[in-house]
Order: sequence, then structure tokens, then C-alpha cells
Amino acid sequence: MLTRRYFTFLLLIRLGVGSFATAQSANFQWQSVAPGVWKAVVGQSDRITPLAVAGITPRIDRLKSLGEPPFPNALAGSIYQLVDGKTYLRFPLQKEEQLFGLGLNFKTVQQRGQIKTLHVDHYNGKDNGRTHAPVPFYVSSLGYGVLINSARYITVYAGTAVRTDSPNRPPEKDRNTQRDWSAQPYSDAVEILVPASGTEIYVFAGKSPMEVVQRYNLHNGGGVLPPKWGLGFTHRTPTLFSDKEILAEVADFEARGYPLSFVGLEPGWQSRSYPNSFVWDSTRFPKPQQFLETLRQKNIRANLWINPYVSSHSPIYKDVLPYTGSHMVWVGRVPDFSLPQPQALYKQLFTQQHLSMGISGYKVDEVDGYDNWLWPDVATFPSGIPAEQMRQIYGLQFQTMTDAWFRERNQRTYGLVRGSNAGASALPYVIYNDYYDHHDFITALCTSSFIGVLWTPEARSSKTSEEWLRRMQSVCFSPMAMLNAWADGTKPWSFTDVAQDVKDVMQLRMQLLPYLYTTFAQYHFDGKPPIRAVHLVDGFSTVSQTTEGRLNSTDNPYALAATKDLNDQFMLGDYVLVAPMFAGQTKRAVWLPAGKWYDFYTGKLAGEGQLIEISPGLSRIPLFVKDGGIIPMLPPRLHTPDRQEAIPLTVRHYGTKETSWPLYDDDGETYDYNRGVFTWTPLTVKRDQQGKLVGSWTRPNTPDFHYTTINWQFMTP
Ligand code: GAL
Repeated sequence: MLTRRYFTFLLLIRLGVGSFATAQSANFQWQSVAPGVWKAVVGQSDRITPLAVAGITPRIDRLKSLGEPPFPNALAGSIYQLVDGKTYLRFPLQKEEQLFGLGLNFKTVQQRGQIKTLHVDHYNGKDNGRTHAPVPFYVSSLGYGVLINSARYITVYAGTAVRTDSPNRPPEKDRNTQRDWSAQPYSDAVEILVPASGTEIYVFAGKSPMEVVQRYNLHNGGGVLPPKWGLGFTHRTPTLFSDKEILAEVADFEARGYPLSFVGLEPGWQSRSYPNSFVWDSTRFPKPQQFLETLRQKNIRANLWINPYVSSHSPIYKDVLPYTGSHMVWVGRVPDFSLPQPQALYKQLFTQQHLSMGISGYKVDEVDGYDNWLWPDVATFPSGIPAEQMRQIYGLQFQTMTDAWFRERNQRTYGLVRGSNAGASALPYVIYNDYYDHHDFITALCTSSFIGVLWTPEARSSKTSEEWLRRMQSVCFSPMAMLNAWADGTKPWSFTDVAQDVKDVMQLRMQLLPYLYTTFAQYHFDGKPPIRAVHLVDGFSTVSQTTEGRLNSTDNPYALAATKDLNDQFMLGDYVLVAPMFAGQTKRAVWLPAGKWYDFYTGKLAGEGQLIEISPGLSRIPLFVKDGGIIPMLPPRLHTPDRQEAIPLTVRHYGTKETSWPLYDDDGETYDYNRGVFTWTPLTVKRDQQGKLVGSWTRPNTPDFHYTTINWQFMTP
């Protein structure tokens, strides 16, 4: 009897049940998995992880070209504990270190000092971890990144807690007498709670935050390279519009001279939606194929709005039933896409009804939240995947599934999605939402750049023409230039007093296509995101300096910006700094990184490594170009160029520096670039013997290089 009791006691201690002893912490066993990338597995890791769902194929060749750095020193001393069926992770933080990432955030770029529970959801005004892409990845200003490859609702304490065993424990202070008492004393660690008995962790090295992000994106397969038409302008037509109404709208764009590359069909193209039938409504679209063909002849593609939830009126309903979850969404069934059968049913129906008729992509709605609409965490799915993990990966899964359909056809797609997660860099989807705060939409552009996702600050409607113009200006400098008129039917020209200015910025977007396309090629081949928070940019120090305990903004002009939160300006590609204006604003501050910066429109010097204040007027969005900046541009046009088209280029050069910048081109619509069918052509500006700047290039003689001649424009006198 005694022995049995003793035995049970021993067993309980072993299981950690009822034992109050501190769980042992252990060091990670890091294994190199790619140049500059390490992985550790602790405990029993989950079967379903974001990287597995995203189906990543690391670009080892490109990672190699970034070099093979040693494991980041700053992470020595990282530890984990397995406690009570959960996993605790701890990574050290240094005094001046700043953290970026941890999901698509809308208010703050810097994440140190924040607590987040990462949970796929529709963003609702708080940077608390509930967001469309709660990517569990953070980038340190010291040049390393940490990814927790888990599809759980993990909680990150990003430098908030003080441990008894901390070697850097802050001194205890008396609130009543010491003025520097702080409610949040200094913390020297990121601590993470993964509510599972194990997880995978990845570490990415880098000389700079940018190099870390590059490694993260290249490890995910490199960033997406959209089809050229995806980078033009897109207009989403109102709900319940018919084929005739859409064609009339398209004709109106043409007649008024507003660019258009693809239209979005919102709810109503299908016979039932919310839940969905996925088949065309025969009254509004009696001949869908003919309708799509008419659009195609005008060089316009079409994108379909859907959500994945199946109506009993859908032809796949009966067959898909056995593979759906225990709960409904809008009384529609929720397929379990981790099983092959529903994937096959969707592929067959969508191919027959959409892809083979000429549909070019999807807008995948409602794969994020709200809790009250989606399945609860007690839902069950036939594959056995818990509801929590299903929530975290559902959007990602839909992206990989549809991406594969298009890849099989050797046809690039570019669409929209509202839920994503880690590993998404290569997926051809841009995130959007209904939150509609212009300023916060710009912050999201900045934060998207750390976590391998794309975001569009869509324009829908506005209270004033000023707001309308400001929003349209911003969206034209984003990964998808989109007017989403589903609810309001707003047209680009709806506000007549700014209609010309709106047209100008849409036109500028079209003219910048060669620059944009090369910028996305850098995302694909080098992992550099197309939109870049200034913290990723050379010449902008993220480290604040203090002298005698005070902020030193004399020696380091960025010190102030680094301690504030620079969330309203960003880089588009290598050369263009975008500083959007918001309604009601007549002036704003712009932080120019080190070196000289020039006004995009005039070529005049704007400043050099400093804070400037500008009062730009209403008609244009403030843009600045780095010294030596090269901007290839098309002549004004209404549609993205066809594959066959030969185009003359204008190449602008700004400032005084000699430069050589590689211009990318390929067929613009297939995946043949994966077989090496592409060109990088150096555009070179040098001084001649008289000291005058002169441009030169050698035109490649390949069929899918589309530019014929170059007219060099030296913008800075
Ligand atoms: C929302 C979506 C909007 C629009 C609308 C149509 O969920 O965010 O962009 O598509 O549905 O009902």
C-alpha cells in the first residue's frame, strides 16, 4: 500500500502535477537550416504550423548570396521551459534594442513594451494581437529575427516583465519620493507563452533589420511577383451589379480617361452569397464567359469576391458535407481544407465556373473574424485539427490552395484576402479590411513590411473631396491601387473639384509601372519588401543616443524619431519616400534619412538627413527621391501593357550621384521567370568628361523585354 502511494507520488512529480518546484529551463538546440537561418524544436511540436500550411520552399540560392553569418550573439542565453502542457520561451533584450513586427499593426511600428495575444481577427482599433495577419515574427534593431512557427494563440510579452533572476534587474524605487519611478520598469527579455506542449522556433540573422527581413522572405520562397496587370488600377463595382452595369462603368472609365487594369465583382455575381453558391447568377450574368471575354478585349481582368462558406444551393454542397466542421458561418458549411476531398471539389467547381472562363483572381473575404460570426474555439473539424489552429491558418490555407490552381495553369494571379499568417511572402494576396482609418492604414503599410505580407489602404468613400483625394493619393502608392466601391458606388471622379487631381495620381501610378515591377522583382529575388518602413532603410538609425542621460538629437537626428514612432511615412522601393497627407492637414513633418533627398515633381533639393516641414498643397502627394535615384516611367496610359507590346521608356534621374540600377522585365503574366526567363538590365548614369550626367544602357535582345528606347531626364539641374 505504502509503496503504491509512493509510486503514484513519484509519477505525479514526473508529470509535473501538483509539484511546485520551478520547472527546469533549457537552452535551445539550434540547427542551421539555410544560410543565416536556424531552427529549434522544443517539446512536442504541432502537426499544423503556419509554415507547413504556407507550403514554403526556401530560396537557398538567394539566401546563400546574402552570405552565411554566424548565429546572432544577441540571442545567446535564450531559454525555454515546458510547464503544465505549455511552452515558455525567453529571448534576451538589450538596453537600446527596438522590436518590430508581431503582426499587421495599425497604430504602432515599434513593439517593445507591448503585450499581444496573436489571434487571426478583423482588426478592431487596438494593437493587441488580434489582426488579419498576427504573424509571430519579430525583427530586432540589432539585426536578428525570431519566428515562432505556431498556429496557436500565442502571447508575447515584448519586453514588459521583470524577473527575479534578471542580471539587469532595475533598482526598486519609491513612487512617493522618486520622480523617475516607472510603472513599467526596465525589462530585459521577450517572453512568450505558447499554449501547447512544444513548438518550432526559427532565428534569422542579418547585418541590419532589412537583411533579417530579406532572409525571412527568402526563406518563405521569396516575395510574390504579381502579374503586371495586378499593379495597375483596380475598381470594385457595387454589390448586385449586373454584367451590363459593369461594362457601362468600364466604358465610363475609358471615356473619362481614368486608368483601369482590373475590376472586382462584389457579392451578387453569384446566385447566392453569405453563404455562397459559387456559381453565376443567371439573371445578372446570363453569359459570364462572353462578359469576361469582352473585358479581356479591353485589356481588363476580373476578380471575384467570395467567402469560403458553402450554401445548400451550391452544386458541391452534398459532396462537401462530410468534410465540413461542426459549426456554421451564416448557416453555411465550413469546409476543412486540410483534407484533399473539399480541396478537389472546390478546384473542380472554381476551375469550371471561374478560371477556365477567364477569371484572374479572388478576393477572399471573412477568413479572419469576427468571433461572433466565425466558428467558436469549441468547434470540431473532420481532420481533427483544433478550432484554434483552424482559425489561425484558414486564410493561409485558402491562399495556398488557390495559388496552386493558377500556378498549374502557368498563369499569375493577384488577389485580396482578409486573413493570413507566417510564411505568406510568396502568396499572391494583398490584405484589406473594413476599418477605414486613413492614418492607421498608412501605419499598416509600414508594419506590413516586417512580416512578409502586403496591405492596401483601399479607398471607398469620403466625407469631403479633400479626404477623397488624400485617400486616392495614398492608395496609388501601395501594393494594390484599389477603389472599393462595393457599398457606396463612389467613382474616382465623384468629387468633381478634385477629379483631375485624382486622375493625375492614378495616371502617375500607371506611369510608375516599370519602377513598381522592378521593386516587386526585388521582393521576389532579394526578399526586399516593396513597401519599407523607414526603420528598414539605410541612413535611418533606429537607435536613439543619449548624452548625460538626455536624448541626443544633435549628433543623431533620428534619435527623436527613433523614440517617437515613425508610422506615417515609408519607402516605395529603393528610391521613393512617400509622405501621405491626411484630410485637415496643411503641413507635415518628414524625416529624410541620411544623404540628399529631392522633390519628385521638381527635382529640387528637399533636405539632407534631417527633419523637414512641408506644406505641399492639395493636388499632389509628397514624394521624395534619394540622391542618385533612377525612376523608369511609361508614357501615360489607361491599361497595363499587353505581353506583346513594345514601349518607350522615360528614365528620370535625381540628384548628383552616379548610379547603376538594374531594371527587371519578363513576360509579366506567367511563371516562366521560375525557369530563368527574365532580364535585369542596368540603367547607368555617369558623368562624362565635362562632368555632365549621361545615361546609358544596353537593350537586351530577348523576346520578353518590352522597352524599346529610353528618354533620359535629369531632374535636378
Ligand atoms: C466585406 C468586405 C468588403 C466588401 C463587403 C461585401 O466583408 O470587407 O470589402 O467586399 O464585404 O459584402
